This record gives sequence, C-alpha cells and structure tokens, in this order.
Amino acid sequence: MTEDSINQWVLAHQKRIDVTLQDFFNNQKNTLLKNACEYTLLNGGKRLRSLLIYAIGEDEKILNTFHLDQLALSVELIHAYSLTHDDLPAMDNDSLRRGKPSCHIEFNEGQAILAGDALQSLAFQVLSNNNLKIQNDMKIKIINILSQSIGLNGMALGQSMDIDSNKMNSSIEVLERLQELKTGALIKASCVIPFLLSKNYEEKFITDIANIGHLIGKIYQITDDILDIESNTETLGKTAGKDRENNKMTYISLVGKEEALKIKANIFENLNKSIEQFPRKLEALQNLAHYIYKRAY
Ligand code: IPE
Ligand code: IPE
Ligand code: MG
Ligand code: MG
Ligand code: MG
Repeated sequence: MTEDSINQWVLAHQKRIDVTLQDFFNNQKNTLLKNACEYTLLNGGKRLRSLLIYAIGEDEKILNTFHLDQLALSVELIHAYSLTHDDLPAMDNDSLRRGKPSCHIEFNEGQAILAGDALQSLAFQVLSNNNLKIQNDMKIKIINILSQSIGLNGMALGQSMDIDSNKMNSSIEVLERLQELKTGALIKASCVIPFLLSKNYEEKFITDIANIGHLIGKIYQITDDILDIESNTETLGKTAGKDRENNKMTYISLVGKEEALKIKANIFENLNKSIEQFPRKLEALQNLAHYIYKRAY
C-alpha cells in the first residue's frame, strides 16, 4: 500500500468514527454536562484507538460494522475522559487541547471533572447496551478487559505515577512501566477487544495480539514525548514543551532525543516482526503501524 492510500484509509475511518460519535451525542438530552462532554470528544483527535479497532476488524474479517463502531465509540469515550482529566490544574495543568482551550478553561474545573466522569461511564453504558448484540459472555469479557486497562492497575495507575514522576527515582524501567500503563494499556485493549469478535478467534492468539498492541503503545508514547520538544503548539494542538515545564519523566528527560529515536526504531522493528509472525496476515494493522511510526502530530 502506498503512503497516499494509507492516508486515505485513515481519513475514511476517522470520518466513520466521527459520524458515530456525533450520532451518539445527537441522541442525548441537551444539558450543560452534555456540552462539556461533547466539547473535547467531538473536537477532532487522531482517533488512533478507533483506527486500531477498524484495522483489526478488517484484517480479521469482522463483518458486523455496528459492532466495530460501538467498540470504537466506547474506546474514544474513555480516551476523551482521560484527556479531559489529564489537562486539569491538579494534573498536567494544560490549557490547550486539540487546538482549543481545555475543557476546564472553556467550562470550569468542576464541569470538566464531571464531564470526564460521565464520558467514562458512557463507555460502559455503550458496551452493556441491549442493542449491541454480542453474546453476553463475550460482552462481559470485553467490559472486563477495558475496565482493567484503565483502572487501579491500568491507565489510572500510570497517570498516578506520571503526575508524581518528578519525585521518583528515574530509571528506564520505571518510565517503561509508567508509559505502559498511562498510554499503553488502553492501546493494547483497543487491539485485543476487536480480536475477540473475530470469526477465527482462538484464545491462544490473544497474547500475540496483546504483544503487538503493547509495542504500538510504546511507539506511540515515545513519539508523544519526542513531539513535545520537537514540534510546536500549533501543529500539536496542545502546549509544546509541557513535559519539561512540568518536570516529567519522559524518554527525552531520561535518554535524550537521539537515543529515544533509536529505541523507537528498535521497537518498530520488533513490531513488524511480531506482525509478520502472526499466523494470519495483518495488512491493515501493519499499514496503520507504519502511519503511527511516522506521525508528526
Ligand atoms: C494524547 O493522545 C494523550 C496520550 C495518551 C499520549 P492522542 O495523541 O491520541 O490524542 P488525540 O486523540 O489525537 O487528540
Ligand atoms: C496522557 O499523557 C495520558 C492520558 C491521557 C491517559 P500525556 O500527558 O503525555 O498526554 P498529552 O501530552 O497531554 O496529550
Ligand atoms: Mg499527563
Ligand atoms: Mg498531558
Ligand atoms: Mg505528552
């Protein structure tokens, strides 16, 4: 696939999730809290986690597009919640998100906290809804994987480590753990969850898919750290240089940009090997991995 056709694939699927998110919110009662939820959620974003769901859906020939849309919707709801809270004064204290004032600036802190709460619970409402006709045991498994990935030993723990990372003894092991949790866990879940709906689903392949998701998550967060110093606020749509300002433990603070780029390239090599070794062809996922590796914002 050429770079152009990968970009087109990405655009088409970003549009698809955007329409799904918009439809979902059009059906909600108009309130201030709804506005605060919509504010971050519907305001663009790369939709990477949804793209992973669609790529695996395509590779694994999952034909029920409604199922994939609902999985993507729930994961984007969780992600938007995490961004809304991440920007709060008590966390990263960031005033810009997706090119607009962060939710707590546009509304206020209390509304932003509540918007995050509501976005999170909506994700589980979507997955447990009766109109999602997935067998109950599979549904419970999906809900279990997603909730584990964001909770006490998942994203929330990663964020907890991150906001106090300036007080920790820094080491590459601690950094890897922190990033695996704060970003990696949800990205990994976004790979495993659609795989459960595959017609050829076999439990024994879950660890392979999880490992692929794990490596994609690592590449994603290293790139986020690099872009924080390398790019600018306008391109990123969020405040560049914020990690240094907040004294965060990142790949840049720990090993510097050159080494970070080398580590990223190594992980990408491992990722490609893992994708190629998978018993079935994962073409859409491989193309998307390439796109993620190259991303500039
Ligand atoms: C930003 O996520 C927060 C991280 C987990 C690094 P994204 O870079 O996926 O943000 P959007 O969704 O494209 O705005
Ligand atoms: C955010 O990580 C991770 C989550 C939202 C869970 P960052 O703090 O590095 O994300 P940005 O750089 O603000 O987007
Ligand atoms: Mg943060
Ligand atoms: Mg942040
Ligand atoms: Mg960051």
